[in-house]
Amino acid sequence: MRIYVHIPFCESKCIYCAFASTVGDSDLQKKYFDKLLQEIKSYKTSEKVESIYFGGGTPSCVDKKYIVILLNEIKRHFIIDKNAEITLEANPCSLSQEKLEYYKSVGINRISIGVQSLNNKVLNILGRRHNKKQALQSIKSALNAGFKNISVDLLIGLKKSNIKKDCAKLLKLKVKHISAYMLQVEENTPLKSMIENGRDILKSDDECVKDYQNLVMFLQKKKMQRYEISNFAFDGYESQHNIGYWTGDKYVGFGLGAHSFDGYFTRTANSSDFDGYFLGKKHEEILTNSERDEEIIMLGLRCKYGFNLSKLSFDLQKKKIFNDLVEQNVLIKDLDSVKLNPKFYEISNSIIIKLINE
Ligand SMILES: C[S@@+](CC[C@H](N)C(=O)[O-])C[C@H]1O[C@@H](n2cnc3c(N)ncnc32)[C@H](O)[C@@H]1O
Ligand code: SF4
Repeated sequence: MRIYVHIPFCESKCIYCAFASTVGDSDLQKKYFDKLLQEIKSYKTSEKVESIYFGGGTPSCVDKKYIVILLNEIKRHFIIDKNAEITLEANPCSLSQEKLEYYKSVGINRISIGVQSLNNKVLNILGRRHNKKQALQSIKSALNAGFKNISVDLLIGLKKSNIKKDCAKLLKLKVKHISAYMLQVEENTPLKSMIENGRDILKSDDECVKDYQNLVMFLQKKKMQRYEISNFAFDGYESQHNIGYWTGDKYVGFGLGAHSFDGYFTRTANSSDFDGYFLGKKHEEILTNSERDEEIIMLGLRCKYGFNLSKLSFDLQKKKIFNDLVEQNVLIKDLDSVKLNPKFYEISNSIIIKLINE
């Protein structure tokens, strides 16, 4: 099973971000971490934990003592696999060499840094607090602190951004994993208002697709494998935690708005407002067979691991569309396993919709 811990604090809000996070003062942080600790302590299981993920928000922006208290409690309370991947999400602004060394010494073995872009004008528009130099320095500091498994997040979609050039620079710094996300214009964000008010800052859909395709080709040449639509890694550096999500593992989420899944049909979400969370409010959802089937197909076809036909509640092989797609080599079937031919990743959404609805 997998553990996710949500740290809902940031130094400031970026214009595009709709994640559950706030700037928060020290009293709120203290109250939150007390509650989080209590939540972890009251969870009962004897299952082995294969990965732990501190996500956010920005886990690196809170006092490092909170992270170590949480991690120690998780280690005391759960059986942790000796090779467990332990990731911490970080922002370049809040990553000092000293902090990174501390994280390393307590057992965090993977750092995921929100770089977003290496163009200062783009960073400025996005409302990021760091510049290119600080982003590159944070990666160097992580290397100096002894981290081998370093991931960076990048965004595709802003005018003036050049993701291929950014990746070339990042690879020189021995980054092992890149998440390249298409910028989503989320509801109730300053970005959404800017677009509605006519600010011409986004690339067209065609330009975004072109950027993505160029990036895929470039990273392939560098021997970085695309193992999910937005995720690229050198061999052995794929995110084990995310693979767990995509292949249907059980996971438990602690913290504001965190989701849990029992590996079968039950998904639970903690309240995503602080008051509700402090009161222990949760929302439970029992998936129907068809909802679960759709999820298995969707997650499986977006990554290189595919899905197993036997996991579905019905026989997909009885559908004409499935057999047509296998015939056309769009889907690759090997015994029980089905994968999307990587040539068709860009149009995976329409293939998934066809497969589910026809
Ligand atoms: C929770 S943040 C973690 C890193 C850290 N908070 C930071 O931003 O430096 C996870 C990642 O989600 C991505 N993200 C956030 N909002 C997004 C959006 N509207 N569209 C696409 N990606 C987004 C960003 O690349 C970000 O680095
Ligand atoms: S992108 Fe990261 S730093 Fe910016 S608001 Fe969202 S979680 Fe916070």
